[in-house]
Parts: sequence; structure tokens; C-alpha cells
Amino acid sequence: MVHALLFFLLPSLAISASATHLHHHHGDIKSIHFSLYQHETINKTGYLIVNGVAGPHVSQTTTPFGTIYAFQDPLTTTPTYNSSTVLGTTEGASITSSLDGLRSLSVAKITLNMKSHKGSISILGGTHNTKPSDHPVVGGTGDFVFVQGYVTSSPVDLKGITVVYKIQFHLYWPPYATN
Ligand SMILES: *[C@@H]1O[C@H](CO)[C@@H](O)[C@H](O)[C@H]1NC(C)=O
Ligand SMILES: *[C@@H]1O[C@H](CO)[C@@H](O)[C@H](O)[C@H]1NC(C)=O
Repeated sequence: MVHALLFFLLPSLAISASATHLHHHHGDIKSIHFSLYQHETINKTGYLIVNGVAGPHVSQTTTPFGTIYAFQDPLTTTPTYNSSTVLGTTEGASITSSLDGLRSLSVAKITLNMKSHKGSISILGGTHNTKPSDHPVVGGTGDFVFVQGYVTSSPVDLKGITVVYKIQFHLYWPPYATN
């Protein structure tokens, strides 16, 4: 989703973790913390829309300044798509925003269809092409109305035509939203 255009160019970075669901209620503070895996297939669920205009060419770690990329990717419970359950979708775009080609601005709507919570959250933030990136949650719908928090996106497997990212959700409801 948010990591632009690394495709099959980087060696895979092994990040092992499984989806976890932790619910906390401390007084009026409600939060949930869990992970899903995003699967993006070039020219099938993600497309380069506009070529960038300056800076480095598309490489292992860079995309030209101004590159626009759009995606609609499934979110699953494990890194292996075929043995996973699809619990959501992330749709959005990223624009390469640094002249060195290493960072982009990402916007996405993440629709979640979990047993406990159904709805969407919207995120907006900067993504670094080679490091885990935190994206602020700017709002939500359905069971996620009023949520705040952040979503961390980390590369898991960037080889082949389908790349995988681990998406860690840290969602918090303000006191006025919990009743
Ligand atoms: C995706 O499609 C573009 C435009 O048709 C093409 O130039 C590019 O090579 C394709 N990428 C892959 C990995 O197939
Ligand atoms: C996943 O399943 C599809 C359809 O059955 C198959 O074509 C594909 O090779 C499988 N992928 C893996 C990694 O096993």
C-alpha cells in the first residue's frame, strides 16, 4: 500500500510475527492492537499511474520525485496469502515526496471486516521506502468512528510480482466514543 514501488527489487526482509488481537479496557480507555498482512501484485492490485519527474530512477530503494502509485490490496491474517483469511482491504495512493526518491506521502482507506469490529479507518502520512513507517489514523467509520492512533507498515517480502507488508494497527477510542 504505502511503500511505493519496491516491487521485487529488494531482498526479502524476514519479519516474523503472527496476527494478534489484544483488547484493553482501562476505565473509559478502549484500544485494540493487531496485525494483518497486505498483498500487492504489480499490474493487478497496484499500478504506477504517473511517472516521476526528477531525482533517481526506479531502483531497489527509490522512485523518482512525483511518482504516483495507486492500489487496492487485500489484507490477510498471515503472510502466506493462500493459507490466510482475508479480513480487509486497503485502497489508496502514494506520491513520491522527497527529492532523493526515498520517501512518499501515502493516503489510504482501510476497510476491516473482523468478527469484533467492522468499518473503515483512514490514514495519512509519510512512508520511508526502506524502514518501517508509522502512519497517523485520521478517522474512521462504522465501529471505528472517532478512532485515533497509528498504523505501522513494514516490508516483509519484496521479491516477485506480489510484495507483502506487515500492517500493525494501534487503535484508541476517546472516552466520548466508548458508549
Ligand atoms: C506493469 O505494466 C507496465 C505497463 O504496461 C509495464 O511497463 C511493466 O513492465 C509491468 N510490470 C511488471 C512487473 O509486469
Ligand atoms: C495460491 O493459489 C493459487 C490458486 O490455486 C495458485 O495458482 C498459486 O500458485 C498459489 N500460490 C502459492 C504461493 O502457493
